[in-house]
Amino acid sequence: MKILFTRSIQSPMLSMIPEDYEVVMWKEENSVMPRNELLKEVADADAIFTNVTDLLDKEFFEHAKKLKIVSLMAVGFDNVDIQEATKCGIPVGHTPDVLSEAVAELALTLMFACARRVVESMQFIKDNKWESWGPYLFAGQKISGAKLGIIGMGRIGKILAQQAKALNMDVVYYNRRRNPQTETELDVEYRDLESLLKESDYVVMLAPASQETYHMMGYEQFAFMKPTSVFVNVSRGSTVNEKDLYKILSEKKIFAAGLDVFEEEPIRKEHPLLTLDNLIAVPHIGSGTQETRDKMVEIALKNMLKGLNGERLLHTVNEEVYE
Ligand code: DGY
Repeated sequence: MKILFTRSIQSPMLSMIPEDYEVVMWKEENSVMPRNELLKEVADADAIFTNVTDLLDKEFFEHAKKLKIVSLMAVGFDNVDIQEATKCGIPVGHTPDVLSEAVAELALTLMFACARRVVESMQFIKDNKWESWGPYLFAGQKISGAKLGIIGMGRIGKILAQQAKALNMDVVYYNRRRNPQTETELDVEYRDLESLLKESDYVVMLAPASQETYHMMGYEQFAFMKPTSVFVNVSRGSTVNEKDLYKILSEKKIFAAGLDVFEEEPIRKEHPLLTLDNLIAVPHIGSGTQETRDKMVEIALKNMLKGLNGERLLHTVNEEVYE
């Protein structure tokens, strides 16, 4: 069996792989396996261990003649042509649940950092501009008791709602499908998108990438938000029209935004958004705690080995492949 790792994974968990399997791994720590290399290596691979940075499209599956399993070290799978995988009879595994707390924590981190202008304040000190305590120096927004609007009430949304409740926040949500059970269990209320944007002090985007959610947040939607409100995206960059976000932030029509994800990753220094003081950007690190990433590796490896043995995966994206 040949297993292809498209990124360098250094983990004791790799000992799970039977010794007689051939392992091909892209060795460069912080770079993506080039497309031509990926297509060449997958041609005779039985399994692929991949993540959000590889595009697994029709062309990829045409090259993957022997492939029995796609194992994603990620919960999101918008980079994989799922229909094509299913057509080829290939199960696609992913790693939900284990990362929900970490991603929700990053959403909170960005909310706090934006609300209290943490990055701007630090730059102020580094620039040696701090002369004295100021009555309204970097005055920001309060979080406790404020209203949080969650767009996309899935696994991560539910954890974020619980965490927000501990901060005494009111929580409202917008979702494709309303979920009365969640409303009762978590004491959250449903709103249509416009009402959520108008009411909330903090808006967190958690809806997955799809045709339906593409540019779900544009100028019209941002304009519903309050000038004191903060927008956070820890889902996928495609849900937000970045040109419109830039416009609304420069016009100071919302207070600030915190982004973990971008329309094009990596975002480059020259990007207009990065010139703004009221924008905080981090490099797609939502699930990036040591413990979470270890668990993601473990689950992705287990999915991969199960797939190679013809067993059902722990978490399959395309359940229909088993039918
Ligand atoms: C995911 O899992 O989909 C994240 O975006 C990467 O951790």
